[in-house]
Amino acid sequence: MSSTSINPLSMSQLPMNQLPMKEYSAHRAAFFKKMPSNSVAFFPAGKELTRSNDTEFAFCQNKNFFYLTGFNEPDALLVLLKDEQDNNKSVLFSLPKDPLHEIWQGRRVGQIKAVEEYGVDESYELAEIDVLLSDYLDGKSQVLFGFNDDTFAAQVFTWLKQVKSRIRQGANAPEQLTDADPIIADLRLIKSENELALMRTANHISGLAHQRAMQKSQVGKLEYQIEAEILHEFARHGARHPAYASIVAGGDNANILHYTNNDDVLKDNELLLIDAGAELSGYAADITRTFPINGKFSAEQKTIYQLVLDAKNLAINAIKPGMCFAKLNVLTNTFLTQGLIDLGILVGDLDELMAEKKVKDYFIHGLGHWLGLDVHDVGDYQISLDKEQLRAFEVGMVMTIEPGIYIPLTDVNVDEKWRGIGVRIEDNIAVTADGFENLTTNSPQTIEEIEALMQAAKA
Ligand code: GLY
Ligand code: MN
Ligand code: MN
Repeated sequence: MSSTSINPLSMSQLPMNQLPMKEYSAHRAAFFKKMPSNSVAFFPAGKELTRSNDTEFAFCQNKNFFYLTGFNEPDALLVLLKDEQDNNKSVLFSLPKDPLHEIWQGRRVGQIKAVEEYGVDESYELAEIDVLLSDYLDGKSQVLFGFNDDTFAAQVFTWLKQVKSRIRQGANAPEQLTDADPIIADLRLIKSENELALMRTANHISGLAHQRAMQKSQVGKLEYQIEAEILHEFARHGARHPAYASIVAGGDNANILHYTNNDDVLKDNELLLIDAGAELSGYAADITRTFPINGKFSAEQKTIYQLVLDAKNLAINAIKPGMCFAKLNVLTNTFLTQGLIDLGILVGDLDELMAEKKVKDYFIHGLGHWLGLDVHDVGDYQISLDKEQLRAFEVGMVMTIEPGIYIPLTDVNVDEKWRGIGVRIEDNIAVTADGFENLTTNSPQTIEEIEALMQAAKA
């Protein structure tokens, strides 16, 4: 990494911090192409979630709805209609403009701006859905909606029942129901140039936050104080929210995979594992770095760290169109197994240990996952009906690569000197025509880079 790459960009220099509206129209157009003639598709927005009594969590939009609209209010519904001649119409139902509500709770887009700014063909108040619904369903042969959302599925069945109850008046309810989730997952899996630009920015901001965490690390601080530094750096660069609850895990806490208590004291001679990524205009970064709290790796920490770093780079360098996670797993598991044999942590023959999957005692989780609007993004890992065919990487897919080695203090099977070490290193990778692009360019990762950055911060 060059020294210039750790200089923060100002907001105005950031290549992209939200998608142009035409991108959402393009997403709708792509979904329309997948709809059969004479069908209707429903996509509900997210709802506000109560934290306690009358206070809510920060709102997070339903990501399929967001992908198709860019609209960020709760309690809305997108209806996509395709007629027998394959003419398309998009209709957005949302909450009305309401002066009293807007004084207390905040501004709403309303129906006029929904058409003008969000580019849908028509927009109505949410309350009008019951009136218009039968027009949408009557005579259609197929309804598409996400089967994952059972509350909304119950709503669709209620609407279907309403149409069926008018059968003697000549109404015709659709008879075919199709799960929209896998269709939209396949679209979301391939990122456009604009989505990639946005994810690059989310990664850049997250890299700055990881740098700040390293600079602010100090024995005696609390983990959540470092978490606060990360959130501060996200916000400073235009990313209001983290993409997921940040993991800030000192010492043995790193061996708890989804540790988010973040309330322990940072101790001398221990490592700090930070898994934190910004969300930018809905898109996630997912980066992990592990570094010594006092700025200097011990010999054992260095050894495990270098093994994980080499495994990560081995996997990343093998990424290209046609590759798949299963093959990357074999490559990485073989490398880590041999590494652990060399250190005396695993004992035995490489082939036998591989057959027994013994590396999984120390590398507990998967090598990576799709990344996009969700941190664990949608999209199957095996395709074909029998789910046996492995999904090959294609240009525009984005994934994480995140090997780790976890040796809890309680592991009596290894030499004491290794115990309490937990290391994960995680980058975000886009598949390109000639291989890959590592989106994670400014999160220090070599031992030299990390120690130099931390020593400079102390000075
Ligand atoms: N941050 C969650 C994960 O790495 O999968
Ligand atoms: Mn992560
Ligand atoms: Mn991850």
